[in-house]
Amino acid sequence: MIRTGVFITFTLLALNGFGHANATLVKKHMVVAANPHAAKAGLTILREGGSAVDAAIAIQMTLTLVEPQSSGIGGGAFMLHYRPDKESKSKGHIIDAYDGRETAPRSANKDLFLDRHGKKIPWKKRKAGGKGVGVPGLLRMLELSHKHHGKLPWSRLFEPAIKLARKGFSVSPRLNALIKRDRHLKNFPQSRKFFFTKEGKPLPIGYRLKNIELANTLQEIAKKGASIFYTGAIARDIAKAVSNTHHLPAKMKISDLAGYQPKMRGVLCIPYRQWNICGMPPPTSGGIAVAQILKIIEPFDFSRFPVGSVQAVHLLAEAGKLAFADRNHYIGDPDYVTVPVAGLLDPKYLASRSATISADKAMDKAKPGNLAHYAQSKFAPDEGDNRPISTSHISVVDSSGNGVSMTTSIGTAFGSRLMVRGFMLNDELTDFAPISHVNGRPKVNCVEAGKRPRSSMSPTIVTSKDGKLLMLIGSPGGSSIIGYVAKTLVAALDWNLTMEEAIALPNFLNKNRKTELEKGTNLETIAPKLIELGHQVRIRKKVSGLHGIRVRAGGFEGGADPRREGQAIGD
Ligand code: DON
Repeated sequence: MIRTGVFITFTLLALNGFGHANATLVKKHMVVAANPHAAKAGLTILREGGSAVDAAIAIQMTLTLVEPQSSGIGGGAFMLHYRPDKESKSKGHIIDAYDGRETAPRSANKDLFLDRHGKKIPWKKRKAGGKGVGVPGLLRMLELSHKHHGKLPWSRLFEPAIKLARKGFSVSPRLNALIKRDRHLKNFPQSRKFFFTKEGKPLPIGYRLKNIELANTLQEIAKKGASIFYTGAIARDIAKAVSNTHHLPAKMKISDLAGYQPKMRGVLCIPYRQWNICGMPPPTSGGIAVAQILKIIEPFDFSRFPVGSVQAVHLLAEAGKLAFADRNHYIGDPDYVTVPVAGLLDPKYLASRSATISADKAMDKAKPGNLAHYAQSKFAPDEGDNRPISTSHISVVDSSGNGVSMTTSIGTAFGSRLMVRGFMLNDELTDFAPISHVNGRPKVNCVEAGKRPRSSMSPTIVTSKDGKLLMLIGSPGGSSIIGYVAKTLVAALDWNLTMEEAIALPNFLNKNRKTELEKGTNLETIAPKLIELGHQVRIRKKVSGLHGIRVRAGGFEGGADPRREGQAIGD
C-alpha cells in the first residue's frame, strides 16, 4: 500500500521548483478522499473485489460521519463513471453522468429568499436554517449508480461507516477549526448538543466523537435501501426539521422527499490538444465552464510558458472572465431553462472568444457571448456566486479499469446547520439567485419549485483520443472550483506535473471579477506584473480540496490536496 498527502505540512511548492519528479505508482486500484478513515473504507471495499462505485459509496458514508461539515446523506452530488468498453470500436469507453443535485421543494417560489419587506435576506443569514434546504439527492443517486455498476451488496458498503460511528473517531484539526469559526452552529439545538462540549466549547482536536444516531440511520438505509430515507420516519423528521426550525423555516413535505428523482445526463466531452476532457453538464456550470476555459486558451502554447508564469496566469484569468460571463448568463437547470450547450461549446464560437484576448492587456469585465442562433436568451444577467468552505471530491479506480470522479456537497460548512438523526441537512438552495428578476426579466438561475440550483461542481475525467482513462479530478471551493480544476488540468497536461504537484501548485483564477492569487505563495511576487497588464488583483486564501488520480504507463499516481486532510492510497 502506498499513501500520499497524509497531513502534509502546509508548505506550498515554489512555482519554479517543479521537477516532474517520478511519483510512486500503484498497479491495482486506488482511492483518493478528503479523510484517511474514508480513504481506508474505500480501499477495504476494493480489496474485497468491490467496484469503483462500491468504494465511492463506502467513502461517502464514512465522510458523512468524519467530515460532517462538507458532505453527506443530507446533501447531493454529481458523479462521472468511466467504464472501458471493449466492444465499442469507436470510443473504447462509456462515461455515465449521474445528477444527484438537490431540488427545491414544491412550496418554493421566486420569493424564497426575500424578507417580508421584499428585500433580499442577507447571505450570512440565509445560509443557515430551513429556507436553504433542498431535497437531498445523494442516496437515490448512489443507489442508481450501484444498480448499474455495483458488485458488492449495498449493505456491505455501509459497514465501515457504521462501525466507526459506534466506535468513535478523533476530531480532526479542520473539523475543530470549522466548529470554532461558525456563527450559527451553536444556535441549532441538535448541532449544539453534538458539536460542543457540555460547557458549550467546540469539541477539541483529538476528542473521540461517536455518532450513534447516524449509525442507526445508516443501518436502516443499509438494510432497506434508499427509499427508507425518502419515504419513512427519516423523511418525516427531515420535513419537520425544515418546517419547524426557529431560523427561516420553510415548507418541506414528505411528498417532496418521496418525489425526488436522480437524473442520468449526457456527459460533455471536448477535445483539448491531444486529450479528451469530459465533464458534468448542467445543472452544474462546472463542465461547460472548465471546457470553455481550456478551449479559449488552446490557441496559446502553454507548454512553452514556465509553470505559473505571468503569461499563463494572465491568459487563464482572461479565459475565466469569458467563461464566467457565459456561465452567469446562460446556465441553469436544463429541465427548466434552455441552456445552449452546443453553442457554448462550439469550437468556432470559442475561437472567436479566444480572439478577444490580448497577450499584453487585461480586458475589462467580459460580456456574455451572442448565441442567438442557438437559443434566444430571455434571461437577465446573474452575478450569482456560491461561497466556499465545505464540499468534498472523491476519485477512485478499480482493478477492472472503472473510474469514479464524484464531487459531493452539503453546501457551506455544516450546510443548513440543521441536524437530523445524526446527519446535516444541506443549504444548497442558497446557490439560486436570491433576487429572481431584473426589470421584469427572470434570471436563468431563479428559484422555482422542483428546480435544481446551478452548481459549480466540476467532476472531470480525462481520456486519450482513443478513449483510454488518463485522469480523474475535482475539487470543493464554491464557484472557485472551476478555476481550481482548470489550473490543475493545465498543470498536469500542459506542464506534465505529477498529480500531487499539479494539485499543490498555488491556485489562481478569475470569475469575471478580480484576478485571485493564493495567499502565502510565490504567486504574490507576480502580482505587480499582472497589475501592469491591467488586472485588478486580490490575494486571498484559496482552499481547494483537489483529489485526483493519473493513469501512467506503469500504474496509478494519486494526489490529495495538502490544503485539506485527505489521502491517496492504493495497492
Ligand atoms: O454546488 C456548488 O457549486 C456549491 N454549493 C458547492 C459548495 C462548495 O464547494 C463549498 N466549498 N468549498
